[in-house]
Amino acid sequence: MPLPNKALQQTGLSVAPLPLAPAAERRYVIQTSLEQMTGPDSSVTVRAFRSADRDQVERLWARVFPDDPPSNAPALLIDTKLRVQPELFLIAVADGAVVGAVMAGFDGVRGWIHHLAVSPDHRRRGIATALVRAAESGLGRLGCPKVNLQVRATNLDVLAFYRQLGYGVEDRVSMGRRLEGTG
Ligand SMILES: CC(C)(COP(=O)(O)OP(=O)(O)OC[C@H]1O[C@@H](n2cnc3c(N)ncnc32)[C@H](O)[C@@H]1OP(=O)(O)O)[C@@H](O)C(=O)NCCC(=O)NCCS
Repeated sequence: MPLPNKALQQTGLSVAPLPLAPAAERRYVIQTSLEQMTGPDSSVTVRAFRSADRDQVERLWARVFPDDPPSNAPALLIDTKLRVQPELFLIAVADGAVVGAVMAGFDGVRGWIHHLAVSPDHRRRGIATALVRAAESGLGRLGCPKVNLQVRATNLDVLAFYRQLGYGVEDRVSMGRRLEGTG
């Protein structure tokens, strides 16, 4: 039984190219170019978002996050993200179709990961792990020392996923304020 997630987890938050696990133990390999991660059978690739991906990413997020408020409308998020560190907007492609996406950003102090989603038909294959590791690598290249993320209290199932990747729940209270005149 392959253990791709374990192999990826062992890499931690390293910026360096990942050591290759024995072929039998990996389904995904992070290449020197950390924007692109390809499985040995080339069935899944993680790469930077391209404009041609827009419709599929919008559909993916609309399906995975049906209860998101209008301020998180996929089209709006994409437009905003493409203005800031667009190279940290990553997607996973399988058989020519977008099956996963994540946005990351570095604010100069902390890195953030947002809107990680994998198509329900493609889960538990290590795709989200590959997306997060690629996002971490991109953040690390910018000098980011730590990655933060937020999980809605209604979505606590996802904590098991992030714990598997080495993330821990921290003693913090999340606060936020929407700025006037923005989407
Ligand atoms: C959370 C999510 C991104 C995981 O995607 P995925 O591609 O299935 O994740 P992976 O295959 O990389 O999972 C890696 C490991 O995390 C753990 N894990 C993943 N999903 C889990 C779940 N629903 N419950 C418990 N553990 C889970 C498992 O240990 C898994 O390894 P295994 O399959 O070998 O057991 C996906 O379920 C999703 O899109 N959920 C809805 C959107 C969402 O909640 N996004 C996060 C916003 S904060």
